[in-house]
Amino acid sequence: MPTISRQGTDFIYQQVTRFISGQISSGVLQPGDRLPSLRRLSDRLSISVPTVRQAYVELERQGRVESRPQSGFYVRARARNALMKPAPCRDCKPAPVRCRSLIDRVYEGIHRPGVLPFGIANPSMAKPAAKGLNRAMKRVMARAEERSIGYAPSDGEPSLRRQIAYRYLELGGAVEPEEVIITNGGQEALSLALMAVAREGDVIAVETPTYHGALELIESLGMLALEIETCPEEGLMLSSLRSAIDRHDIKVCLFASALNNPLGSATPDEHRQELVALLEAHDIPLIEDDVYGDLRFDGTRPSPARFYSEKGLVLTVGSFSKTVAPGYRVGWLLPGRYEERVRTLKRALSCSCGLLQQMTLTEYLASGEYDRHIRALRPVLEQNAERMTGLIGRHFPGETKVSRPKGGSVLWLELPRKVDGGHLFGQALDENISICPGMLYSPSRRYRNFIRLSFGHPWSDRIEAGLETLGQLVSGH
Ligand SMILES: Cc1ncc(COP(=O)(O)O)c(C=O)c1O
Repeated sequence: MPTISRQGTDFIYQQVTRFISGQISSGVLQPGDRLPSLRRLSDRLSISVPTVRQAYVELERQGRVESRPQSGFYVRARARNALMKPAPCRDCKPAPVRCRSLIDRVYEGIHRPGVLPFGIANPSMAKPAAKGLNRAMKRVMARAEERSIGYAPSDGEPSLRRQIAYRYLELGGAVEPEEVIITNGGQEALSLALMAVAREGDVIAVETPTYHGALELIESLGMLALEIETCPEEGLMLSSLRSAIDRHDIKVCLFASALNNPLGSATPDEHRQELVALLEAHDIPLIEDDVYGDLRFDGTRPSPARFYSEKGLVLTVGSFSKTVAPGYRVGWLLPGRYEERVRTLKRALSCSCGLLQQMTLTEYLASGEYDRHIRALRPVLEQNAERMTGLIGRHFPGETKVSRPKGGSVLWLELPRKVDGGHLFGQALDENISICPGMLYSPSRRYRNFIRLSFGHPWSDRIEAGLETLGQLVSGH
């Protein structure tokens, strides 16, 4: 601890500011670490709490720390390399998607035994919910006996549909349990929604960059994708969407505006409201991919865009994959005015979803464990994001730019122009590290020198070493 001088020209708060800055610069305090509480530091240094607070506020002003409500002050990764601007998209035209062969290689890499999985977005693994879910499943099996191995109703287990409807009520909107259709993960919900509103050859507007699974789906349904500029900070750019609507015959929009993958951007609620009004004025349906909405770091839960809908043209996709258990394969769809068509498609395509998983999730939600788990998971993800950003700042070339996600589990990196993400992917895999090349996130393959890295894992020395290796590979290009 420093000795505080009361004689010199420096104010006491400035001495504290310098001390904490020094601890950050020397690496004793790392990005994502919590600063000592105001009271503890004031006791240790024999100074007042308001003086320590003044120092922390000054550090916040300098961008070195950030305050989090009801939690404290945390060290921030250096923001000098923040990715701020959207990739310009002036000449975007509807285009067929051709990403399948690259996705095959990426998935093959992700599932290699022992690989460092920066390539898979699996936030729940940063703080696995397995123990709580296993306990819930045991309780369910003891109660349900034979019933738990039977078929679930095609639309889903009524008790789970009611739990999901109840969560929407807590957000301030009315959803009837009968409207909720349980699906095999968010991916099936996306496919049902797309099949219900569009057909082969139709133009689907997507954010750019956008989740590769949505592009692969568009590819397999023979539809065309049209990229809409999306800002790493503010999300979807409505001005770009307006001009795209004027120029192209858009059949449907598929946006993850509550939290985009891979940018981690969150479109503000006012813009999302405007978005729904704009689309409904043109009778264009919106498929809202909301699988990450519960994972905003600041704990705010955006209202689903469907709450703003007046014509029933919004279809909302949800999932438990990102929050608790990707292997359970349980998601849902609120189909809006396309209910009939979606129900028929669901029954024809997959009959129903696993009953035991649905009953377990019902139990997990009803007992309050889901909410406790999410409250514990968010800060872990946020800390991992800061740590990873900090290490990228240390090991990657200076021109590297990094997103500052508002939630979720991935960072989006713009590497120096000469780096080819596809080539880097192969080199990294030789070192037993999986990454996602940026080209997967756009039908026009515009993100050649970008990659996506996941921080949804329990932090470890191996992750730190992996980032150093990756930085060396990038520098070698
Ligand atoms: C944006 C987005 N939507 C949907 C999905 C599909 O989720 P699920 O695993 O529930 O099928 C993912 C999974 O990565 C995703 O990132």
